[in-house]
Order: sequence, then structure tokens, then C-alpha cells
Amino acid sequence: IELLLSEGPLAGRHAIVTSGPTIEQIDPVRYIANRSSGRQGHAIAAALAELGAKVTLISGPVALADPSGCTVVRVESAMQMLNAARSALPADIAVCAAAVADWSVVNRSTEKRKKKVGEAPPVIELGPNPDILATLSRAEAARPRLVVGFAAETQSLIENAQDKRLRKGCDWIVANDVSEGSESFGGESNTVHLIDSVGVEDWPRMSKAEVARRLARRIAATFET
Ligand code: CTP
Ligand code: CA
Repeated sequence: IELLLSEGPLAGRHAIVTSGPTIEQIDPVRYIANRSSGRQGHAIAAALAELGAKVTLISGPVALADPSGCTVVRVESAMQMLNAARSALPADIAVCAAAVADWSVVNRSTEKRKKKVGEAPPVIELGPNPDILATLSRAEAARPRLVVGFAAETQSLIENAQDKRLRKGCDWIVANDVSEGSESFGGESNTVHLIDSVGVEDWPRMSKAEVARRLARRIAATFET
């Protein structure tokens, strides 16, 4: 019934969107995390829903309201995010906008670590996290038709992003400059470049909501053909 009622160019399509940071526990009161407000990812989820897609938004901890029209799955760690993304398959579209922590804590403690006078600070041992974007891009039979990743870089933006697109096996990369003064982090606006197999499209500086709407329209256009 939901399918019949939804309208728009993405009606009947399922999109998975990851957003926000992931957090990796050190002990019950401490964690390491990536920097992300979740604004861009949440805006993309909302924009896809606006065009009629059924959206599963998988979000790390953020201080944002749930975008309307999306099913929101809340997670903390990268491993939980991967499991949620896998469970949400099949999908036509995947947009990985989350700032996933690259490492998790191997020697995670179930009790709070206590300081002891005269003792050296604890050593946190890190191990690699799964790559959600690469996993979805290589999901064989279950691969979404269009997989979009993000690249937040502080230098050699386009080169690094093109390299990332090939390494991850995704179709598009949205590259954004997060060097000092770019105002991308936590801010309202973004300057991005859309990279596909053909080349690079430079988008003017615009709000994150506008980036989201433009990206959603571009996604819808690929499903019209
Ligand atoms: N990503 C992911 N899972 C990870 C790491 C990254 O899904 N464990 C996704 C992000 O959501 C983003 C893209 O991959 O869409 C690029 O993330 P980024 O951190 O820039 O790439 P990394 O491969 O982790 O490389 P870097 O060493 O630059 O952090
Ligand atoms: Ca990373």
C-alpha cells in the first residue's frame, strides 16, 4: 500500500543512507569517534524521501531530529552500522555519508578504567573496522544499482577522491574539502565535487540541503533511463 501511495521519480525505489559518526567504546564511559554532525547525510535521506524513495537512514549518534518520511535505525559502532546496512538490503540506492571510525578498540574494557597514582596512562589498542561502502559496493547479487560514497579530504581533494572511488568500487564519490576554514564541518553549507567514471563536476558552494536536493535529483535522473 505504501508503494502504491508514494509518488515522485523515486517511487518504488529503496535507498539506504548512512549518516553521522560512529563511536567505538574504550570502556563504558569513554569512546573514540569521528567528527560529523550528520547534517549532510540526514539532508540526503530527506531529499530522497521527498522524491518518493523508501529510505532507510542508518545513523550514528547525532543531535538531529529524524527526517520525515524515513525509517531511522540508530547505531553506535561501525560494526553495528554494517550489520544494519546489510539487514536493510536489498536496495536500489546506497549513499554512505557516515563518518565511520576507521578503528575500533581491541582491548575494550567492560569496566571503567581507573586512574592509579604513579601508573602510566593505559594504552588503547586499535583494530581495523569493516568498510561499509566497500562492502555494499561489492555485495555481488545484492549490490544496489547505484552506490555513492563521500570523500572528506584536507589535501589533493580530487586525486584522493578519484582514487577512493576506484578502491571502494562505488559508482559516485561526493568529494568535499574539509581543510581548515572550509566550514564544512558542522556548518550549514558545503562545496562539493561529484566524481563518476566519466569525470568531475564542480558544484558551487551551497547549503547542505541544496547539495542533498541536487544529489537526489541526479540520482533520480539515473533511474529514469
Ligand atoms: N566508509 C565506510 N566505512 C568505513 C570507512 C569509510 O562506509 N569503515 C565510507 C564513508 O561513509 C565515505 C567513504 O567511505 O562514504 C570514504 O570515507 P573516508 O573516511 O574518506 O575513507 P577511508 O577509506 O576511511 O580513507 P581515509 O584513510 O582517508 O580515512
Ligand atoms: Ca576514514
